[in-house]
Amino acid sequence: MAEQRQRIIVEGGRRLEGEIPIQGAKNSVLPLLAATVLCKGQAVLHNCPRLSDADAAFRILDCLGCRCSREMSVISVDASQMSNNQVPDQLMQEMRSSIVFLGAILGRCGCCRWSTPGGCELGARPIDYHLEAFKQMGVEVENDCGFMNCTAPRGIQGAKISLPFPSVGATENIILAAVTANGKTEIHNAAKEPEIVDLSNFLNKCGAKIAGAGGSSVVIDGVKELSGAEHTVIPDRIVTATYMCCAAITRGELLLTKTKLDDLSPVLPLFDKMGCSVYTYDKDRIYVNARKALRSPGKIVTHVHPGFPTDSQPLLMALTTVLPGTTIFEENIFECRFKHAGELNRLGAKINVRERIAVVEGVEKLSGASVKATDLRGGAALVTAGLACEGVTKISNIFHIDRGYESIEEVLRGIGANIKRK
Ligand code: UD1
Repeated sequence: MAEQRQRIIVEGGRRLEGEIPIQGAKNSVLPLLAATVLCKGQAVLHNCPRLSDADAAFRILDCLGCRCSREMSVISVDASQMSNNQVPDQLMQEMRSSIVFLGAILGRCGCCRWSTPGGCELGARPIDYHLEAFKQMGVEVENDCGFMNCTAPRGIQGAKISLPFPSVGATENIILAAVTANGKTEIHNAAKEPEIVDLSNFLNKCGAKIAGAGGSSVVIDGVKELSGAEHTVIPDRIVTATYMCCAAITRGELLLTKTKLDDLSPVLPLFDKMGCSVYTYDKDRIYVNARKALRSPGKIVTHVHPGFPTDSQPLLMALTTVLPGTTIFEENIFECRFKHAGELNRLGAKINVRERIAVVEGVEKLSGASVKATDLRGGAALVTAGLACEGVTKISNIFHIDRGYESIEEVLRGIGANIKRK
């Protein structure tokens, strides 16, 4: 509880300089941990970030009867003795993305019982695509007083599934349920995000037969069972974009290492457009220098991959609050993804929101104030803005930030920020 009351306190005005190795991707490690449920052997995941969401996934595995251990950034899971197919309600509520365990448990056990996830800070977040796909795969879904009972009386069957929208979570859940299903599954209009490719690469190492991941049609030939395998979680593209924004907003200079340039193609050109000098090396390094005068990049429109990612929108919004000119954001993925705008305005930003459009008029300076993290990336956007504020910014509800950033204040302190957690 004391931790719930902790705040991040930033005193702005320092130019950031130095080097940051990028952590493993939150949105990859969660489905990968879920996937280990399907393995009848030990799975070893390297580069697992220390995050509260990853800890919650670890606890879910523990509740399912898997033998798990963590040594620094390496998580080992042995699901061969898995004894339970029900995730406690509390863990389900704690982490909405635990929904991805549904496909994995169904694939492993053919049935599971689940508490229905509610909406979240980004909006209603329905799971109808997931459930509809499972039904097509022979799963009977019954709603029982806030719980879902899922059973596949004749086993999980391969199916041809066309998603109404390329949902990341639904694509992952279908892949997880399909790898050991009877027959072939085709997913059309599948999500193409790098995390889908990472999940498929891991599952294929374990003996799955998945083709086409990263494209809009994914084909999965069901196999009898999966073994374990070793795998390294991909670098976090959103965290990379976050620290680039932190460098730019303080007119600093950063070298980001252990990242993955291929996954950043929708974001890097924007930094050029704003006037940063960006150099990329060796497929995994970015040098960004923001000493010259920066300007608004114009319009930023969020789309599914390879479009500009919705998760990076709040970070870019924080940065553009202090760039000369008008920046227009169009949000096309989630209906409630501008909550951070109101908090940024408390710091002196000039942002007007109307439905899916936010208009940012650049101001000369921001001033520190007490603000509240509204969600994970919105919280990181407040930290980013705080670095440029005159005076002190105090950010509460930082548990949101800890879901996706490994010790954000230590990382930023390491490159010269005046920031602490208290
Ligand atoms: C994942 C990411 C999240 C990212 C998002 C979009 C994880 C843990 N989270 O979330 O960080 O912002 O992708 O890139 O990987 N939808 C439905 N019905 C469904 C499923 C989705 O209507 O059954 C809608 C959603 O409400 C949303 C859109 O589809 O408007 C995209 O959602 P989706 O791609 O599923 O996002 P998540 O997988 O939840």
